[in-house]
Parts: sequence; structure tokens; C-alpha cells
Amino acid sequence: MAKEIPELASCVDETRVENPEYERLLRLGRQTDFSAERRGNSYRRAQADPMVRATGIRQLLMLLAPQETGKFAPDHKILDVLGGDGVVTRALPKIFPQDEIPFVVTSDLDHDMVEAARAYGLPVLWQPAEYLILKGESMDGVLMAYGSHHIDSVNRPRVVAEAFRVLKSGGRFVLHDFEEGSINADWFKNVVDKYSATGHNCRHFTTGEMTELLSDAGFTSVRIRHILDPLTMMGESDDVLSAKLAEYILDMYGLTKLREEHGEILARKKILEISPVYVGESIENKVGLPRKAEMFRLALVASGTKR
Ligand SMILES: C[S@@+](CC[C@H](N)C(=O)[O-])C[C@H]1O[C@@H](n2cnc3c(N)ncnc32)[C@H](O)[C@@H]1O
Repeated sequence: MAKEIPELASCVDETRVENPEYERLLRLGRQTDFSAERRGNSYRRAQADPMVRATGIRQLLMLLAPQETGKFAPDHKILDVLGGDGVVTRALPKIFPQDEIPFVVTSDLDHDMVEAARAYGLPVLWQPAEYLILKGESMDGVLMAYGSHHIDSVNRPRVVAEAFRVLKSGGRFVLHDFEEGSINADWFKNVVDKYSATGHNCRHFTTGEMTELLSDAGFTSVRIRHILDPLTMMGESDDVLSAKLAEYILDMYGLTKLREEHGEILARKKILEISPVYVGESIENKVGLPRKAEMFRLALVASGTKR
């Protein structure tokens, strides 16, 4: 790593790599929902196009940008704690001008995810959110998004404390999830928990919990807001877009029981019926594609600064 990615190697704390706690947590996390045998392969198939989630990703990155300029310098270092196969990193070149793309390190507990990110040629660390192997004060930003509900409530303070530890003074932390009781959290209960092979018995977040987590860890300027974070596909034909969005949702959430119960064609129809989906005219029409298929998602997002 020192040869290939020196800017990452200089941030790794070797004493933490050698600490038995690191290995203990990696071993505990060996069988996550996202390993190849479970819903990992279909999840990664869906993430091949990172732009489906570009609306949300852009907003999360902007919350991590230096507040004075709103722009990143290329040496601005961001850790994507629950990075999966690096969908956030892969979206960056299509969102920001070349000279304003920050250096994002993706990381994950799941080894298959880490290998998939490596195969994309991304800087990646195999590490648990509860015990990061980065040096203290080595990052300018930390993002915990798209999977925060997979961290048990009891472990959440520890994970946020780790984000605080690795941030430099003035660094920004962004925590993203869905709100308990919202349309999206209910959708996870009624659809993902019911129809995925892994189930989805996860508690989402409340505004109060997010505020307390960040404040207790020592963050200041804590703010919570909702952001639109849809799954969006643009195209020319409603039929093609509907089929593509349905396939994406079935893959991303590993809804194998719907596929087994109904077969592929009916499963696609059914998932569009039970999800908050819109298919029709696109007012954006920026890329000359007049139609869009979109799944509505409203995320709950906290941000804070390390003084
Ligand atoms: C829903 S996926 C999202 C991945 C990626 N952020 C994306 O948007 O495609 C959640 C990820 O969190 C990872 N994860 C779950 N618990 C973790 C933990 N304790 N430490 C690190 N990663 C964890 C999973 O392995 C999985 O890759």
C-alpha cells in the first residue's frame, strides 16, 4: 500500500492493525448480509451504475465539503465507513469536475465488498466501523451512509466516537439513514424483511437519537435534515424503465422470495406496486431522455463538525 497508495498508507495506524480487537471484530463480521452467499452478489450487480443514487450522493458529499468554499481540494480526505463496493467513490467523477474530486477511502467489514471495491481499483480498507484502523486526526471528512441501520443501537455511540477520533480538527461527519416510522423505514419492514432471504430486522434512526449520538461524541454545529435520496433512472420508454427499476430494487434488496413466489416477470410488477415508485415524464430531461422511473426515498441526515 505504501508504494501504490501512499496517501492512504500514511493514514493507517499499524498498532491498531495488530490489535486483537481488530481481528476479533473482523471474525465476528465474517457472515454479513452482504457476503457472496447471501444478498451480496445481487446487491453488487445493482450497484454497477452508481448514478442511480447520484441525487443523494451529491448532497451527502456537499455536506462534507469545506463550508467556506463549498469545494473540495484533491487532497481532501474522506472516509466512507460503510462503503460497500465503493458506489460513492465511483459516482464522484460524474458529479464533480476533475480537479474538485476529493480523495475518498472506501471501507467495509465484509470481505467480498472489499474485494469488489479493489477490483474497481479503489483505495479501500477492510475494517469494522466499531474499530477503525486509521490514525487519529487523519481524515477531513467521515461519511456513514447507506447502511447505518445495520449497526446495532448499542454499538452506535462507539461507531460515532471512532468517526470523531479519526477526524482532524475542523473535519466534518455526516450520518445518513432513514427515519423510524417513515414511509421508507416501513417499506424496509413490510417489503425487505418479508421478501429477502436475509430478513431486515434493523432499527432505523430518529432525529433525537442522531442529535444525541453526535453531541455526545463531541461534535458541534450539529444539524439534522431530510434529503431527497431517490433511485432514479432516465430513458425513453416507460416499459423499459419500469423493468429496469424493478430489477434494480429486487437485486439491491435481495428480494428472492418475491422472485420465487411469482417468477421474474410478475415479481417485477409486484415490487413496483408495493413500492413508492413513479414512472413517467421527467421534468429534468437534461440528457435528452424524456422519461424517468424513480423510487421515492427521503433520508434523515445528521452533520457535525469536530472543533
Ligand atoms: C447497504 S450496504 C451499503 C454499501 C454502500 N455504502 C452502498 O451504498 O452501496 C451496507 C454496508 O455496510 C457494511 N457494514 C455493515 N456493518 C458494518 C460494520 N459494523 N462495519 C463496517 N461495515 C459494515 C456491509 O457489509 C455493507 O457493505
